[in-house]
This record gives sequence, C-alpha cells and structure tokens, in this order.
Amino acid sequence: MLETKFLDFTYENPLMNASGVHCMTVEELDDLSASKAGVFITKSATLQERAGNPEPRYADVPLGSINSMGLPNHGVDYYLDYALSYQKNHTAPLFFSVAGTSVEENITLLEKVQASEFKGITELNLSCPNVPGKPQVAYDFPLTEQILKRVFGFFTKPLGVKLPPYFDMAHFDQMAAILNQFPLTYVNSINSIGNGLYIDPTRDQVVIRPKEGFGGIGGEYVKPTALANVRAFATRLNPEIKIIGTGGILTGQDAYEHLLCGATMLQVGTQLQKEGPAVFDRILKELSTIMEQKGYERIEDFRGKLKTI
Ligand code: SIN
Repeated sequence: MLETKFLDFTYENPLMNASGVHCMTVEELDDLSASKAGVFITKSATLQERAGNPEPRYADVPLGSINSMGLPNHGVDYYLDYALSYQKNHTAPLFFSVAGTSVEENITLLEKVQASEFKGITELNLSCPNVPGKPQVAYDFPLTEQILKRVFGFFTKPLGVKLPPYFDMAHFDQMAAILNQFPLTYVNSINSIGNGLYIDPTRDQVVIRPKEGFGGIGGEYVKPTALANVRAFATRLNPEIKIIGTGGILTGQDAYEHLLCGATMLQVGTQLQKEGPAVFDRILKELSTIMEQKGYERIEDFRGKLKTI
C-alpha cells in the first residue's frame, strides 16, 4: 500500500529520517536501517570531522525544537565508508548528505562522492542555518545557480538539494526557475526555519548556547511553511524533479498532507529526535489507516491532488 518508487527503486514506504537526526554514528545509522523507515540518510558531512557548536545546542520546546548544532559530524570518509559497506548488503539506494561550509568544500565533497563507488543518492545541503558567519547558501539565488552549474559540470550521480524555507511567491518562482535548469533528482523542502528564538519563561533566558540562542526551528511550528514549500515547488518544478517533504511530520495525517501537496519521500526530524526510530512504525500505521478510511490503495491515488477553492 505504501510502496514508493524513487528513481528506479521501489522503497517499502516513503519515510526517512531528516539528515541530522539519529544519523551521526554507525550505531544510529544501524538503528535506522533496522527501523521501519523505507530508507535513511546520513548526517550532513564536511570534509573533516567537526565538533559543531557548543552545548546546549538542541532543545525540545513545546511545539517542536530549536537547534544550532553547527554541523557536528565525523567527516565525509566516515559516512562514505558506511555507505560503501551498506550497499554491499542492501539493494535499496541510500541517501548521503554533504554540507560544505564554502563553495570549494562543497565541490571537493561532491568530487569525492563522484570518484567513489557510491551508488546511492546524494543530497547537497544548501540550507544549514547554524554555522556562525556562514549564511544559508540557498537564500543567495545567483550563488545557488553558480554552484549548481559547477556541480553538474562533473557530477553524474543522482543529486538532490536541501533547501531552506521560502516565504514569498516571487522567491518560489525565482528558485524554481534556477532549479529547473538542472537535472536534479529531487528538492528537499524544508530545512529548519532558520534563526528563531525560544525563551524559557521561568528564567527569562534562551534555551541554547550558540548564537545567543538563535537556532533552527522544527516540529509543529513549521508544518504550514513546509507544506507551502512542498506545494510551491511541486507546482513549479519539472515533473522529473521529485520533492522530499520535510517539516512538521509528527503523525500519519501530517505525512498524508505532505503527500497531498506532492511530496514523494517524507523526512521526519524533530519527532524522530523526541520519539526515537519507533516513530516510523507509528506514522506508517496512522497513514495506512487514513488511506483505508479514504478508500485509497496506493499513494499514487492521492499524491499531489490537493484541492483548491
Ligand atoms: C546542523 O548541524 O546545524 C543542522 C544541519 C542543518 O540544519 O542543515
């Protein structure tokens, strides 16, 4: 009922983790592999191992989360080693995330993936809001276009980009026009809503240390923005460019709404952090129940079929 075709492979279901959550270590990646998620993605890798921002750098807050992790990760070789050994024993193509902190680092990372035996799908994260002094790349439209031109000059493996949320119709139009020039496999919308501020009411204090408390917001707070971004890109991008819907997926109903807006795969971030990998089984059961109640046998029966008034 929930089978999902993505590129040439059919995954058992559309659920995945969002990069950054439960995917930093081999142990966490193995947990995801053993979970009910259709597939999973590795933590966004930089060339060298990074410690990330000082702690506390993540906080659960009433309607979601705030984080300023700052790309802590074990370096690209660690995740590439994992991916290469994973693909020896599994047929499902794995997703592999990279996030350089400069254009040149992104190019070098992708050159490394291109030169490797990796056969899965690569995600170029152009939207991390948490590295001090480094703006989110995909808010710079000419720079995004320039990077993609360089990347597609040499990168021939399946590639998607992870985008920040956009909030203006003109920006949806402009970004879609840029993305449509390239043979992208997918667009992942959205990364956290960057640079929010949560205040602990008992202490009159921020809840995370980096950047004086500013951090990316996830969870329930972001679902309407995530749905709008998924819908905006689903209606503007070439049909060959699939959408991964991320943001505010806590329940089967949230997953259903992302699919209705046109998403093909779905990533769970904050709720995976709060609930652990058992979240996938619960959301899948809830999604199946909704589909049964509505008389749908396959996701294709309703994907993208959002009604307007
Ligand atoms: C982080 O490591 O700061 C989170 C990654 C992201 O938001 O892209």
